[in-house]
Amino acid sequence: MNRDKIKELDSEYIVHTYGRSDLVAESGSGAHITDMDGSELIDLTSGIGVCSLGYCNEEWVSAVKEQLDKLQHISNLYYTQPAPQLAEKLCKRSGMKKAFFGNSGAEANECAIKSARKYGSSKSETKTDVVSLIDSFHGRTLQTLTATGQDDMHKYFGPFPDGFKYVKANDAEAMEAAVDENTCAVIMEIVQGEGGVNVLDADYVKAVREICDKNDALLIIDEVQTGIGRTGKFFAFEHCGIEPDMVTFAKGIGGGLPLGGVLFNEKTMDILQPGDHGTTFGANPVICAGALSVLDQMTDELLDEAAAKGEYIMTKLAGFENVTDVSGLGMMIGFKVSGKKPGDFVGELLGKGIIALTAHDKVRLLPPLVITYEDIDKALAVIEETAKNA
Ligand SMILES: Cc1ncc(COP(=O)(O)O)c(C=O)c1O
Repeated sequence: MNRDKIKELDSEYIVHTYGRSDLVAESGSGAHITDMDGSELIDLTSGIGVCSLGYCNEEWVSAVKEQLDKLQHISNLYYTQPAPQLAEKLCKRSGMKKAFFGNSGAEANECAIKSARKYGSSKSETKTDVVSLIDSFHGRTLQTLTATGQDDMHKYFGPFPDGFKYVKANDAEAMEAAVDENTCAVIMEIVQGEGGVNVLDADYVKAVREICDKNDALLIIDEVQTGIGRTGKFFAFEHCGIEPDMVTFAKGIGGGLPLGGVLFNEKTMDILQPGDHGTTFGANPVICAGALSVLDQMTDELLDEAAAKGEYIMTKLAGFENVTDVSGLGMMIGFKVSGKKPGDFVGELLGKGIIALTAHDKVRLLPPLVITYEDIDKALAVIEETAKNA
């Protein structure tokens, strides 16, 4: 089938919820994607923060294939080996105590919010409020969309669930004013990804932790985009020196296969009891076997390298003509280009063989952590030249 036919079928038979770019990805390796027309592109997106070890990482592919030859699925009514092994590794790495596995970031946040509501209901009938941040993004299910602090996303699908409040990020006084005895949880990202790569101050995150403790509210850290090495630490909350009550994760953990979930601490690990929550495909052995390989490769050295590469990219970007507002942490980077809409700039980059993303009013980069400095330099040269001519 040729490129045009693929696009034609897509247009005719797939619901148009995405604005697709003119790339028909056929194969990938490391930080490179090959289009069906044979052209090779440098990828600075990792499939929106998913393939952090690059495309078709060999060890991950072998781990997935090996499990695929044994058993693809059985259901959560029985034990399989990969899921508890993965839960142990995640808990030991993060200091959390127990894991629940689902399929996506939205589902992970849905599980965390349900857990917070159950916790609240054990304290009082009115302890149901969830506080989130303006410009946050927590998912596309009705409840996680409601938790998402972006007004333009709160249309068409009402009535939305009750019990959500929104406050300005990095404003401890606003948080103090919003959280009270009726708050069951605060949910936030350490770096707001979709909201424009906005980094929370560590002191602010510590203050939110204290405000939650004072009001017996749970602190949910949404690490769906920031987690599993993306910011140069295994979880981004490690930059802030706090312990969350729940950590949600997805994207980078599955290496490209759909896996998300929640990590619970001592206080929250027994909230969910048999029958309270579940999902057919959660803890799938093939996906968990791949995730084990991702974690094995996510060494401290790789994280340090990712942090250094992120610093390198941000420093270079800050010196480019017409590039402003560089923000980020590790390999999660945003910037603006004077006089250019981010979507137009990303479109121009694609035409020159560089795959990048947008986030709100910024261009966003989520490169694979394993990208080489040679590829970084090639991509930066294109960004510099394109921004110069903006
Ligand atoms: C911080 C954050 N939370 C939740 C989600 C939703 O994840 P998913 O698309 O896997 O449902 C995303 C997706 O971009 C995200 O960035």
